[in-house]
Amino acid sequence: MIKTYNIITFGCAMNRSDSERIAAVLEVAGYKKAKQNQRLDLLVFNACSVRQSAIDRIYGQMGKFAYLKKKNPKFKAIVTGCILPKDKQKFFKGFDIVFNIKELDKLINFLFKEAPIKQSYQTGIKYFKIKPKYQNKFSALVPISFGCNRFCAYCAVPYTRGLEINRSSKDIIKETKDLIIDGYKEINLLGQTVSSWKDPNKKNYKFVNLLKDIEKIPGKFWIRFHSPYVLDFNDELIDFLSKTKKINNYLNLPLQSGDDAILKKMNRKYTVNQYLKVLNSLKKKVEDFNFSTDIIIGFCGETKKQFQNTFKIFKKISPTMAYIAKYSVRPGTVAQKIFKDNVLLKIKKQRHKQLTNLLRKTGKENNQKEVDKILEVLVDTWLSKEKECLGKTRNFKTVRFKSNKDLCNKFVNVRIIKAREFELIGKLNENDI
Ligand code: 5AD
Ligand code: SF4
Repeated sequence: MIKTYNIITFGCAMNRSDSERIAAVLEVAGYKKAKQNQRLDLLVFNACSVRQSAIDRIYGQMGKFAYLKKKNPKFKAIVTGCILPKDKQKFFKGFDIVFNIKELDKLINFLFKEAPIKQSYQTGIKYFKIKPKYQNKFSALVPISFGCNRFCAYCAVPYTRGLEINRSSKDIIKETKDLIIDGYKEINLLGQTVSSWKDPNKKNYKFVNLLKDIEKIPGKFWIRFHSPYVLDFNDELIDFLSKTKKINNYLNLPLQSGDDAILKKMNRKYTVNQYLKVLNSLKKKVEDFNFSTDIIIGFCGETKKQFQNTFKIFKKISPTMAYIAKYSVRPGTVAQKIFKDNVLLKIKKQRHKQLTNLLRKTGKENNQKEVDKILEVLVDTWLSKEKECLGKTRNFKTVRFKSNKDLCNKFVNVRIIKAREFELIGKLNENDI
């Protein structure tokens, strides 16, 4: 009888990439992805601890496992991904297997042992050697590092994923070359602080060297990377970004706060001025540069004035998109230990709303600049009912346009006729396909 699995993924692109590797390991072990209403043998939760809400949703699912086991005595529930030690202890009570994603290569051994399995940390990482089961046929997720050394005061990642481990350039370039040969058009290099990557085997081979070598791979494709840390941008990297044709002219450059005292409390190692200097240089040198940012609202002790500083800087930098999060206490982090989460939820919500309203304006203003231009778009979605395609420009703006045909995985030229807050409306250049 076929053994079946399902994976529920929470969180960021890194977790989506982890799930591609989990699927690959399970399929090698003979499991098949469960179809709707099919008997389920394995349910895997790939958790995210960045905010409490995603963890709470997993707790909410634990009640169902007894019923699923009754229906199918072979049923097993597994949890992995970003899990804080405190949650791990609680998960042991409800899950058959709780394992560290770094030990993915051992999942099969775990599956055939009696549960629950206690995980242990290991230093080496075979994780990168696992060939993923890519979920998308033209845009691939390629992790280049794992974990983080920065210890921002609010952040769970260094505790859930551990310290940064870098993948070798040889491995990364090999995976990228294979993907391009297989017809992939977009490579997403992933890392918690992707720009701090350095080759573990080659001295002085840094992130910019990796980008330069990937650029040399023949073929028509785009490269994106998420998410960099502002202090990793030096002249060499910015100069290269101004010349490259394959690395995209878009970045998610997290600011987190527009107030120096809050940045310091967050253990972000830059000042607002340092951030502005890098951003202005990118805006000046990189053609059609587009960016988004991350902001945390209501971090411990954030005063009205400090929020206003964030609001002012946000207006000044004018991002096209922003991921605005209300601060959520993470157990075990420095902020949880030494500061008070004393900004009322009501205030966090108000500030969130204010900044989101500002984002609608900055988004629209930035998109307005594209009207009347003919832009190259990589199509990623076809809405058959609406007869519409959706895709992204090289600088990561979403474009929607009418098309009778499914143009997914194709580069097409689209004339932009209208700007909305978070997307562009275009008209396909018919001669072009
Ligand atoms: N509360 C709210 N937002 C957070 N982020 C990280 N940790 C927290 C937290 N404890 C946000 C940051 C980061 C993004 C991935 O998630 O803005 O850049
Ligand atoms: Fe978390 Fe800071 Fe590392 Fe980003 S840089 S993963 S926010 S600790």
